[in-house]
Amino acid sequence: MTDILRAARLSVAPMMDWTDRHCRHFHRQISVEALLYTEMVTAPAVIHGDRERLLGFDATERPVALQLGGSEPDELAEATRIAAGFGYDEINLNVGCPSDRVQSGCFGAVLMERPGLVADCVAAMIAASPVEVTVKCRIGVDEQVPEEVLPAFLETVSAAGVSRFAIHARKAWLKGLSPKENRDIPPLNYPLVAEMKRAFPHLHVSVNGGITSLDHAEAFLADGLDGVMIGRSAYHEPYEVLGEADARIFGAGPGPSRHEVVERMRPYIARHLEAGGKLHQITRHMLGLFHGQPGARAWRRILSERANAPGAGLDVIDAALAPLNDLAA
Ligand SMILES: Cc1cc2nc3c(=O)[nH]c(=O)nc-3n(C[C@H](O)[C@H](O)[C@H](O)COP(=O)(O)O)c2cc1C
Repeated sequence: MTDILRAARLSVAPMMDWTDRHCRHFHRQISVEALLYTEMVTAPAVIHGDRERLLGFDATERPVALQLGGSEPDELAEATRIAAGFGYDEINLNVGCPSDRVQSGCFGAVLMERPGLVADCVAAMIAASPVEVTVKCRIGVDEQVPEEVLPAFLETVSAAGVSRFAIHARKAWLKGLSPKENRDIPPLNYPLVAEMKRAFPHLHVSVNGGITSLDHAEAFLADGLDGVMIGRSAYHEPYEVLGEADARIFGAGPGPSRHEVVERMRPYIARHLEAGGKLHQITRHMLGLFHGQPGARAWRRILSERANAPGAGLDVIDAALAPLNDLAA
């Protein structure tokens, strides 16, 4: 098994505004092994935008997959070529995001209705990519019948060369639901995703949507799925999801304690501050680290209130840790 396939047994989902490079660096301190996805970046942004800001990342975050959004094969190929130069381990195409902005550009979940176009897109990306091209999709959209469209979609897109899919196990309702509602309201259909793995045993299939614990993740892996992708729970409760992941999912050694994670973040934060960055840009991703622990509320409150202040530095971290240390004493 290649490194990337191994890492894909457990991944943190792409999440706009959340899984930026600081978040990924933080998650990497908790799990050495899990695959981390970027936020979606659109192909036109990669081509015309500030590439270093959009694509730059630190090698310590790897393995990292870049998620691209788009529906124009040449543009996606060009964006893939540019992104590959930054050293990503995988390039993923977004066929699952239901936001209005994304629909109007004809990409994201609306592409579930256009498997032929998705096949053209991924074929162009594969031709331009030195690393694996994968797809994240839904089980269908709107009036589609998932039991019919999902296998047809996988058939068409895999024939174009994609062999790894992350499937968000619910439909996207493109009319009438907000993106947020589209992550909760359409019912989850895990059995259909498991059935896809049985129907296409040569494909690597990861299940996504509503998975909140490692117990839950392990059950899917035991049931034959190749990977589990976790979004919101990994963000809000990073230690619960990632803290034991290396040991339980990857058979590696035990991970660091929550306090050790904070210590590992300090040099990174110090470098960021020295370069003119703001403390809050990093600590906003760390609010959930002590979730469920005595003192967690004070940690969250002190970071939320003080990390945004002008000149906020590492002393804010010390202050946020103090109640945790007092309670532990
Ligand atoms: C804040 C936020 C932003 C998201 N942005 C993206 C995105 O850029 N691309 C994408 O494919 N999915 C995006 N998603 C969807 C997640 O990747 C994931 O499919 C969804 O949250 C379901 O998984 P979960 O129940 O484990 O959170 C986003 C989700 C959230 C909460």
